[in-house]
Amino acid sequence: MGYKVVVAGATGNVGREMLNILAERQFPVDEIAALASRKSLGTEVSFGDKTLTTKDLDTFDFTGWDIALFAVGSEATKKYAPVAAKAGCVVIDNSSLYRYDPDVPLIVPECNADAIHGYKKKNIIANPNCSTAQMVVALKPLHDRAKIKRVVVSTYQSVSGSGKEGIDELWDQTKGMYVPGQEVAPNKFQKQIAFNVIPHIDVFMEDGSTKEEWKMVAETKKIIDPSIKVTATCVRVPVFVGHSEAVNIEFEEPLDEDEAREILRTAPGCLVVDKREDGGYVTPIECVGDFATFISRIRTDSTIENGLNIWVVSDNLRKGAALNAVQIAEVLGNKVLQKADA
Ligand SMILES: NC(=O)c1ccc[n+]([C@@H]2O[C@H](COP(=O)([O-])OP(=O)(O)OC[C@H]3O[C@@H](n4cnc5c(N)ncnc54)[C@H](OP(=O)(O)O)[C@@H]3O)[C@@H](O)[C@H]2O)c1
Repeated sequence: MGYKVVVAGATGNVGREMLNILAERQFPVDEIAALASRKSLGTEVSFGDKTLTTKDLDTFDFTGWDIALFAVGSEATKKYAPVAAKAGCVVIDNSSLYRYDPDVPLIVPECNADAIHGYKKKNIIANPNCSTAQMVVALKPLHDRAKIKRVVVSTYQSVSGSGKEGIDELWDQTKGMYVPGQEVAPNKFQKQIAFNVIPHIDVFMEDGSTKEEWKMVAETKKIIDPSIKVTATCVRVPVFVGHSEAVNIEFEEPLDEDEAREILRTAPGCLVVDKREDGGYVTPIECVGDFATFISRIRTDSTIENGLNIWVVSDNLRKGAALNAVQIAEVLGNKVLQKADA
């Protein structure tokens, strides 16, 4: 006996990856439904070697379904997640809508799987922002050893982090640079993204930071430890898939770079590629389709006491979204629902 699983947003970047990963990890699925908006009704999506026909989220009856993986954006989540939850289906949501709700657990299984039991208040579990997810996978084992005081992070985030439209804009704008008359003006992004970088993701906050930067601060505190101070600069770069982060960490206790490397080598979800030679590090193009959070360039920062620099790269559609959501479903299945081993 397995689970009845819904994927809402099945025609999107994250939804398609959710279906791929459920199949790849052989999640025990008895029945599966792929949902999207009415305009995608009848669109075919792949689930392993099967093809599913997309149904309309607006008219779907969640009664009797066990788990719904949502990747539809905050607006649609606001409308439909409570409907699914009320019908007794546990929602695992990728939008930012519920992440900061004290009655909703925000989970990265490598860091705080035990928080799963908090789902009962609303029947909803939140998945973190893509940049936060990969960073906390690297930070948690180091925090457990030497207690992190402060993190300074700069991100290099791919366009797939802003959905299908982001991918199309980079592709069309890049081609349009070389074809007279086919130039593409910025639309999804605030400035030209082809051959450029943009230090602006999500809306501006009152203090001059952006919401994406604020999310990294608030989510790291909720997932690992409220005492950790984080300051972030989030930048969109012309890469299709794979987010990269330059992370500077200040610890309370001494931790040398060799010990940090050894800790990360055995930490769940982490894969260290750190040779001090040409190409001895991971770039985003190499992480696409992978489950791991790759860590390279591990080195002491001798300008502060107990300082360390690391380079963190991961597939934002996987660890940053779909993989983490499926891992949460596995934890939910194994620790709570227990219909089958997930
Ligand atoms: N991309 C990332 O790296 C990432 C990481 C973490 C979290 N997330 C979050 O995951 C969510 C999805 O992102 P994405 O990148 O997959 O976006 P996307 O490629 O634009 O796909 C959006 C999906 O949502 C569906 N949808 C939108 N409005 C809907 C509505 N009113 N009713 C039913 N379905 C609706 C779309 O269906 P149609 O095709 O029918 O329009 C599509 O399947 C967002 O909340 C995003 O913030 C994304």
